[in-house]
Amino acid sequence: MQDINFGLTQTIRDLKIKRNAVILAHNYQLGEIQDIADFVGDSLELSQQAAKTKADVIVFCGVHFMAETASILCPDKTVLLPDLNAGCPMANMINAQQLIERKKELPDALVVTYVNSSAQVKAESDICCTSANADRVVQSLGAHKILFIPDQYLGAYISLKTGIKMEFWPGYCPTHARIRPEDILRAKKDHPQAIVLAHPECRPETSSLADYVLSTGGMLRLARSTSRNEIIVATEIGLIYRLRKENPHKTFIAASEQAVCPRMKLITLDKILNSLETLSPVIKVTESVRVKAKKAVDKMLAIG
Ligand code: 13P
Ligand code: SF4
Repeated sequence: MQDINFGLTQTIRDLKIKRNAVILAHNYQLGEIQDIADFVGDSLELSQQAAKTKADVIVFCGVHFMAETASILCPDKTVLLPDLNAGCPMANMINAQQLIERKKELPDALVVTYVNSSAQVKAESDICCTSANADRVVQSLGAHKILFIPDQYLGAYISLKTGIKMEFWPGYCPTHARIRPEDILRAKKDHPQAIVLAHPECRPETSSLADYVLSTGGMLRLARSTSRNEIIVATEIGLIYRLRKENPHKTFIAASEQAVCPRMKLITLDKILNSLETLSPVIKVTESVRVKAKKAVDKMLAIG
């Protein structure tokens, strides 16, 4: 089949070489963007890639906090986010001032901050986590009192999994909150042989119906290794593209077609080309915030 984007993708590839740029894309990005990226991954894997890239320019195909994390880790590189409106609504559910106020109410607590948060919030935190390592991060803190922000559902899942009690912030992902228990029950009825994978950003009543609760990277690994051929996927539907591409003989069923993150979908090939041409929009975290935020991100990366 003729690739309708062939000319555009070739121009992006040529310009990428000229700029010594790397394209990092989150697993929820549009298929054509995943195809052109140098690396596609979950939040943790993308941070790890950003930390070790030798490129001068990072084109971040994801949402704002992900590009900020790259800027925190690579202050000497030019980090581009092809559309500045690509922000994560959950990350905007808490700001640094709100966190400072909450910390006053819980002076003994260590703050564990999901990477889906602003650099200013990370700077006020003790340690970051992603959905791939949140359990290990929380366990690494021993018997300390913990304030987990901003995702109450990820926090509740980790608390259940580790048996560690925590204080939560009432944030959530609107995209994952759209996946209801009825969606899983319907999909299971239609596909009785299927296993169910859910992202921990889903509501507890939804994830409790899953066989496995995993980050997007964890879902990709499970899909490769399982002998089961039918898999119901409760996360943003962009992941299905990569699951099908990597496992052409398996069947993937989206738990809900409503699970679309509109901000992730703002990134397009045209905008990537424009970013490479103009070297904008740049995401640059101010140095005083960056130094503090990096401590929390580095602590997470040391756990892996
Ligand atoms: P992952 O780290 O599992 O890819 O999740 C990131 C995210 O934003 C999920 O909504
Ligand atoms: Fe944020 Fe949810 Fe979109 Fe992930 S899927 S970027 S948590 S709004």
